[in-house]
Amino acid sequence: MWSIPQLEPTRHLKRIAVLTSGGDAPGMNAAIRAVVRTALCHDIEVRGVQRGFSGLVHSDWIAMDRASVAYVLQAGGTVLKTARCSEFLEPEVRADTAARLRGAGIDALVVIGGDGSLTGAHLLEQETGFPVIGLPGTIDNDVWGTDDAIGFDTAVNTALEAIDKLRDTATSHERVFLVEVMGRSSGFIASTVGIAGGAEIILMPGRPVEFDGILETLESSKRRGKNSSLIVVAEGEDPQLTNSLTQRLNEQGYQSRACILGHVQRGGSPTGHDRVLASCLGSAAVNYLRADRSGVMLGVRENRIVDTPLEQVISRRKQVDENLLTLARILAT
Ligand code: F6P
Repeated sequence: MWSIPQLEPTRHLKRIAVLTSGGDAPGMNAAIRAVVRTALCHDIEVRGVQRGFSGLVHSDWIAMDRASVAYVLQAGGTVLKTARCSEFLEPEVRADTAARLRGAGIDALVVIGGDGSLTGAHLLEQETGFPVIGLPGTIDNDVWGTDDAIGFDTAVNTALEAIDKLRDTATSHERVFLVEVMGRSSGFIASTVGIAGGAEIILMPGRPVEFDGILETLESSKRRGKNSSLIVVAEGEDPQLTNSLTQRLNEQGYQSRACILGHVQRGGSPTGHDRVLASCLGSAAVNYLRADRSGVMLGVRENRIVDTPLEQVISRRKQVDENLLTLARILAT
């Protein structure tokens, strides 16, 4: 588990707001609950902003008490709803939003989401001086400044459950299964489930697909006596990739099938890991604001909760460790 930084409270906060934004991720509710209950414990009122930045722009928020977050710890999705908001891309809209927040007596904001949401959070604070803390909430786990984002562990386990089942039928029918997992530009789910599910091949996003290399790997698997294979394909930018590869393999005489896991990976009850991660980060966000700290994202590294300036978070991209992909190849042979 993660050690929680102890910070000296130096600022009196009357009211804070919390929102979830971008793609939902299991554990977002646990983070909201932790923000609400930690704040109330210090007599700070909480406003829950509906539908991400869209609710912020239109002052669409509700008062949250302890009961409003009862029994949400184990629920997937986000009780505050989420949305992508193009209006917030305009600097004038951000200035107007900060004025609305101040006018409503709100002293600070906690934003839970992926890099797009954290960019909005950074711009709001940088341009208007309104205090913001970011928390990483995305199944893609591609946020710089944290080993782990809220929702990633659950998504991995959801995909893995499906992959294990596909292995059963692949083995029985002696087939090749191509399993597409989420990650338009991030290969964290693909590489992790590839290793955990014993995939013969992992196709990462943003890298050229070498069909001859795929055929070679499948052939050498066959020579070693394997009668079925699993290829994990990261979603990437090409929506046809998995189906077209399946078709090409069939044309080469393989019995292959495609399974696109899709948005099922974004739902479901969060794992224990994601619940505790979200609880620690949500609570720490309030402690940071009480210590007059903002403009950072809280994450975890080396079993500790750490803060990284939002500016750094949004200007860098976390990459999958190449050694993990090498490991996957070694273990599949
Ligand atoms: O939540 C992250 C993510 O799942 C990406 O992997 C994916 O590309 C994207 O969201 C799709 O989200 P939506 O269908 O909501 O636009």
